[in-house]
Amino acid sequence: MSQTTETAEPFALSPEILAKIDKIVPRYPSKRSATLPLLHLIQDEKGFISQQAAEWVAERLELEPIKVLEVVTFYPMFQQKPIGRRHVKVCRTLSCALNGGAQICQKFKDAFNVDLNETSKDGEVTVEYVECIASCGTAPVVQIDETLHENVTEERADQLIEEIRANAKQAS
Ligand code: FES
Repeated sequence: MSQTTETAEPFALSPEILAKIDKIVPRYPSKRSATLPLLHLIQDEKGFISQQAAEWVAERLELEPIKVLEVVTFYPMFQQKPIGRRHVKVCRTLSCALNGGAQICQKFKDAFNVDLNETSKDGEVTVEYVECIASCGTAPVVQIDETLHENVTEERADQLIEEIRANAKQAS
């Protein structure tokens, strides 16, 4: 099949995701309400929401692309660029900040030699500073991929860093 788009990598979704999208959209009285579920599905498959992905969703839901981009930029769970195989999110909101979140975050940055929202050179780890992840009572918290780590001391951060490194070695 020939591609007419000018971009180097045309945006395409798997048939499985397209089938899910076709099922989801009619469930909503207004197509716009399907924006979040569609973005989640696409991020699950692609790892992030590119400009092309946002435009694709806009077209599918008959919205202006800016409406979809507003959603993507508003919700911190949506990534706008590729991230590492391991995703470290350190909470920076009040309870966590008061309990040493910045020092914990610095440890991860130093360990993987990255700035905030950057991915290590080997593509393994992305470190992000995020807003409250709803575990303020056990601050400071760090979420690594889907797992939440509570009451993270500097020693615990060191352990988590070692676990990430060990996991990376096994994976390579
Ligand atoms: S302030 Fe960190 S989880 Fe709420």
